Amino acid sequence: MSGQKSGTNLLELRIDLDAVARNTRALKESVDPAQLMAVVKADAYNHGAVEVARTVLAAGADQLGVATLAEAHQLRDAGVTAPVLAWIWSPEQDVAAALDAGIDLAVISPEHARAVVDAGRPARVTVKVETGMHRSGVDEADWGKVFAMLRDAPQVTVTGLMSHLACGDVAGDAQNNLQASHFRAAIARARTLGLEVPVNHLTNSPGTLSRPDLRFEMVRPGAALYGLETVAGVPEDEHGLVPAMSWVGRITVVKPVAAGEGTSYGMTWRAPEDGYLAVVPAGYADGLPRAWQGRFGVTVRGRAYPQVGRVCMDQHVIFLGDNPDGVAPGDEAVIFGAGGVSATRLAEQVGTINYEVVSRPTGRTRRVFVGGAIDDAASVTAGEDGTAGGAR
Ligand SMILES: Cc1ncc(COP(=O)(O)O)c(C=O)c1O
Repeated sequence: MSGQKSGTNLLELRIDLDAVARNTRALKESVDPAQLMAVVKADAYNHGAVEVARTVLAAGADQLGVATLAEAHQLRDAGVTAPVLAWIWSPEQDVAAALDAGIDLAVISPEHARAVVDAGRPARVTVKVETGMHRSGVDEADWGKVFAMLRDAPQVTVTGLMSHLACGDVAGDAQNNLQASHFRAAIARARTLGLEVPVNHLTNSPGTLSRPDLRFEMVRPGAALYGLETVAGVPEDEHGLVPAMSWVGRITVVKPVAAGEGTSYGMTWRAPEDGYLAVVPAGYADGLPRAWQGRFGVTVRGRAYPQVGRVCMDQHVIFLGDNPDGVAPGDEAVIFGAGGVSATRLAEQVGTINYEVVSRPTGRTRRVFVGGAIDDAASVTAGEDGTAGGAR
């Protein structure tokens, strides 16, 4: 199924790797001398982990960050040799195999520290410390115990500490300063106990962009690499990021509808006047939520048309009015991205965040890469069946 070119797919996820590279370079320059850990978890926010990893590393990223061990192994299996840190794992998993694959592990509890030490082989770890978000991280009461346990294991190298901001998207939120001060205390404690902890990191995308004072020795952005604005209350283009993802369907049917006639299951919408309907082949099985009904538009030939009626499993309908531009079957219908509304704007319309919007496309969606240094043979898909990430 792989090998399809852009333009032949019914439903396509276009990933602009040049945009990813540009965003990476801009971030790298702006945070210098701090290092850049590019977060490529969740299949690089559905942009394709392996292709994005290669792109960001070529554009200057120093390290990669993922959530799970499986994500880290995927990168190693693809031949990515740069440092990869995984921060969501459980001591019951095959820790030895992860370490043997050269995967850096975040220690998020005393049990995780014990598992790394007991694996009895060379290990590079980052201790994720609790600083106030209360999600995952070693509690202050356990800092001493964990730092000492890792210090006393000669095969273990602690590269640094990390933590995560709960309110990084609001630069002035007092929570950020509170967490930063706890983070500094954790670094001091580790050093007092004899750990060097040379490379520490706290900020995700919004924290990186809006709190330069909190960059420590490394920053850990994800969303910004993909061109998503994440700082609350600023214009979408505030930081000059270039969105990398577009979700595009190819219209299958255009048909007339008379005033008062309805469309789709339940006849939940009826035409206010005579006009035309068009069918877009993206439904909830492709990641377009049924609950978004009536809350978004789809752009065809540069004009946005309202989505109407129930979103079905495989398709949804848009109302073209009197079809002023002569929309026809085969035309591209941009759900979000280049030529349509941004993921950020769509998120506002449907009541979520741009992170969730880019994570949505799945099912029959085919991922296609444009730009970048990826050669043509490998330029089409991340999945072996050519589907976007969430389908695998
Ligand atoms: C621990 C950690 N660091 C960094 C990131 C990247 O965040 P963002 O995409 O906001 O830059 C995430 C994402 O949720 C995360 O969980």
